[in-house]
Amino acid sequence: MRPDPLAFLSAELDNLKQQGLHRSLRVLQGRQQATSAFDGKTVVNLSSNNYLGLTTHPRLIDSALAATREFGAGSGSVRTIAGTMAIHMELERRLATFKKVESVVVFQSGFAANAGTVSAILTKDDVVISDELNHASIIDGCRLSRAAIKVFPHKDPDAARKILKDLPASQRKLLITDGVFSMDGDVGALPELCDIAEEFGAIMMVDDAHASGVFGKNGRGTIDHFNVHGRVDIQVGTLSKAMGALGGYVAGSHDLIDFLYHRARPFLFSTSHPPAVAAACLAALDVLEQEPEIIERLWDNTRFFKKGLESMGFNTGLSQSPITPVIVGEGSRAMKLSDRLFQEGVFASGIAFPTVARDKARVRTIVTAAHTKDELQYALDKFKLVGTELGLI
Ligand SMILES: Cc1ncc(COP(=O)(O)O)c(C=O)c1O
Repeated sequence: MRPDPLAFLSAELDNLKQQGLHRSLRVLQGRQQATSAFDGKTVVNLSSNNYLGLTTHPRLIDSALAATREFGAGSGSVRTIAGTMAIHMELERRLATFKKVESVVVFQSGFAANAGTVSAILTKDDVVISDELNHASIIDGCRLSRAAIKVFPHKDPDAARKILKDLPASQRKLLITDGVFSMDGDVGALPELCDIAEEFGAIMMVDDAHASGVFGKNGRGTIDHFNVHGRVDIQVGTLSKAMGALGGYVAGSHDLIDFLYHRARPFLFSTSHPPAVAAACLAALDVLEQEPEIIERLWDNTRFFKKGLESMGFNTGLSQSPITPVIVGEGSRAMKLSDRLFQEGVFASGIAFPTVARDKARVRTIVTAAHTKDELQYALDKFKLVGTELGLI
């Protein structure tokens, strides 16, 4: 019998187990909602990105079902061959109007939008100036582009400026930040970074995955929140989180979008969304425009829950969004906190290195508009119980 060439993976997995970092996938039984059943246990769900509860909103479900009946289950092709359906174009037009830009292209996911865009617009002669906590899809896009990567300390525009100042004026530069940082819930320094991009002629790009549907008027994102419309050349949004369905998009100029239609590899080489997905996203836009009180509810719940955690003495970092981390230090401690909470009926996922720094492991909580105050109070009570038990508060 030939030796298993993948045997080294067992050693890697054993290593994870020894460090207490090996995880099994939690399996959701039924719908993604504020209280859900995972692994057979009913828990208050503080782990989804379903900020507005739209995964189960009747308007999204009805639209997806109607589109499936009318147009079928799949699109059957990549966008550039036979897979551009009228409903895909309608979604791009609606998103462009919503985001107040000339044009939008929709990708299969936010990950594909980031990685596909950065790798399409940059070459090995260019340079990316990137916040150290930017999302993995940005990092992968940078690597794929083969451009030089210069990382600046988290939310430090002065450091970004110093990097830009030392670069040759003729070199093409991309300055890039998350709008909301996914592990800390803090907000990027958009106005300052826009100033710097303008000063040095850099392309300005913002990944607004966690801000879409959450920040700005009707959930238009951080560009709207900071009123920097027209100063961000490339905006990425996701349709997979607050929008309740799936996908990512790039918003910008006609030329940017036309170029991505020709050069963004996930767009060129991967099949487009089923009509149901596009229809659900269109319905989500209707909800943002016609039911903005849902966004208000999200923020009301966010304030309530954050205040509860902070008043107990947990270290919640510098969050400014519905993402509130409970930072505990070592990875195994975060996993223990998460496991004990789960036993007590609260699902808040443990996050450790390499997703966050080794000494900043945490349990990440995300409240949604769909949580009731009773559900949130239940979760707070359990945080108090388990936090005391583990000596965290
Ligand atoms: C900051 C950030 N950007 C992009 C993405 C990718 O979005 P999607 O889940 O639509 O691929 C995520 C989601 O995990 C994210 O947190």
